[in-house]
Amino acid sequence: MRIGILGSGLMGGKLGTLFARAGHEVVFSYARNHKKLEKLARDAKGDARAGTPAEAAQDADALLLAVHWSRVDDVLKQAGDLSGKVMVSCSLPMNADDTELVVAHTSSGSEELASRFPKIRLVSAFNTVPSEVLFSVFEARAQPARPSLVYCGDDLPARKVAAGLIRDVGFDPVDAGPLRTARYTEPFALLIARLAYEGEGGPELAYRFERFDRPR
Ligand SMILES: NC(=O)c1ccc[n+]([C@@H]2O[C@H](COP(=O)([O-])OP(=O)(O)OC[C@H]3O[C@@H](n4cnc5c(N)ncnc54)[C@H](OP(=O)(O)O)[C@@H]3O)[C@@H](O)[C@H]2O)c1
Repeated sequence: MRIGILGSGLMGGKLGTLFARAGHEVVFSYARNHKKLEKLARDAKGDARAGTPAEAAQDADALLLAVHWSRVDDVLKQAGDLSGKVMVSCSLPMNADDTELVVAHTSSGSEELASRFPKIRLVSAFNTVPSEVLFSVFEARAQPARPSLVYCGDDLPARKVAAGLIRDVGFDPVDAGPLRTARYTEPFALLIARLAYEGEGGPELAYRFERFDRPR
């Protein structure tokens, strides 16, 4: 698939790199320095290039939204018409200093995005995993015990696209149903971050809730 990365920081940079290594065509966009996007594309060692958000969105089969909540409107405006596009969002509705969710607990950032941009086929995914673990999960993807990663969305074909991308990165996708499930996964992402950055187990502990969906 062709995948447009909207926001090429910790999450977008790593996930875009892994999508390229998994064989997808990737366009990195939206950083303050275009040279950083070019370096990401070079280092991805796959079919990757740097572009503007509009170039990333053009002809994309899927988009990854990976910007701070405060940048969502700006990057989506720059991306242009996204009608009918599948968009996987790992963006969390955090305040400016990343201490609190600004949308919770009776709704979620993902639901708010979907109501503001109803023509986008939105899936919420990857926001429950710290970026630090992504490369090691990808490197271990041939092993039988893959860590689980939950995703949700209201558009079934878009959910299938997201599940494929989650699998490509090395996780077992766990379909958590409609987009409103994001009101539970987004606060859960804060627990994950707390375990990853303040607990004693480090980032790996934070995503090792694996295989809870498997029958025993
Ligand atoms: N990091 C994690 O482990 C993690 C885990 C789960 C969810 N999330 C969520 O994922 C989203 C992205 O997080 P992140 O950690 O990847 O953030 P990040 O590293 O700060 O990346 C954000 C990207 O947006 C770009 N950007 C910011 N302001 C800009 C501007 N004015 N013009 C152009 N580009 C601009 C940044 O550019 P520069 O590269 O130039 O800084 C960067 O490429 C957030 O909503 C976060 O809550 C993050």
